[in-house]
Amino acid sequence: MPKVLSDAEVARYRRDGFHFPVRVLPAAEARAYRDRLEAQERALGGPLQGNMRHKVHLLFTWANELARHPAILDAVEDIIGPDILCWSTTFFTKEARSPSFVSWHQDATYWGLSTDEVVTAWVAFADAPVESGAMRFWPGSHLRSQIEHRDTFDSDNLLSRGQEIAVDVPAGEGVDVPLKAGEMSLHHVLLVHGSGPNTTDDRRIGYAIRYIPPHVRQLKVRDSAMLVRGRDTFGNFDHEPDPRRDLDEAALAAHRDAVERSAKALYAGTDRTAFRA
Ligand code: NI
Repeated sequence: MPKVLSDAEVARYRRDGFHFPVRVLPAAEARAYRDRLEAQERALGGPLQGNMRHKVHLLFTWANELARHPAILDAVEDIIGPDILCWSTTFFTKEARSPSFVSWHQDATYWGLSTDEVVTAWVAFADAPVESGAMRFWPGSHLRSQIEHRDTFDSDNLLSRGQEIAVDVPAGEGVDVPLKAGEMSLHHVLLVHGSGPNTTDDRRIGYAIRYIPPHVRQLKVRDSAMLVRGRDTFGNFDHEPDPRRDLDEAALAAHRDAVERSAKALYAGTDRTAFRA
């Protein structure tokens, strides 16, 4: 039985490859999460960079809390079922008036996962109007299976390899995905999506949380993930621990271990071993 999405909305997700908006947090609570992120950024001397942008739920209690948030998991359960692993979390931040962009791509390209039952919850920490470089989705493109990508390593591109699809998205086919702070979108791992630069005076901050059912396997490395709902009777992933305090020693060690495994999978075939700034 769906908990948040109606049967029609689940059917549309299967057809189009996405669903939005879903209200996760009231605006004031979203603001509180943003404040915690920004306090952390001030303490660290700048935006989260490199490895710290990834698997953030292992470093900070608030990021972990969000990856386990019932309002997110209820919607995710409607798509992938009641047993849920959080496989990764990543911040996609575009500073005010910045050229950062994300080329058209499919998330699945370098992830090494055995099936396409992977859903991304993209949670807006700040309002993300179209002009801020909101995501754009190509409806139905998840049904085309894996499309060939080329790596660009463009420094303004927020993706790990600057990868982009080797075909053009037909003009007029993209759907804008504006979100208010505290709302999320859900998208399928094979959905072609991208986003433009931020031309507004505020930051665009997205927290992308990737969820999988535990029968999914990682084909490239022995990988880790965090059980956030239900049971894992498969053992395909080593289970990651919750951080007890922000950036404490145990959290840093768990994060280092997990990120090393991800980097190994994502950068296989290149000479890179860590995430780019
Ligand atoms: Ni993506």
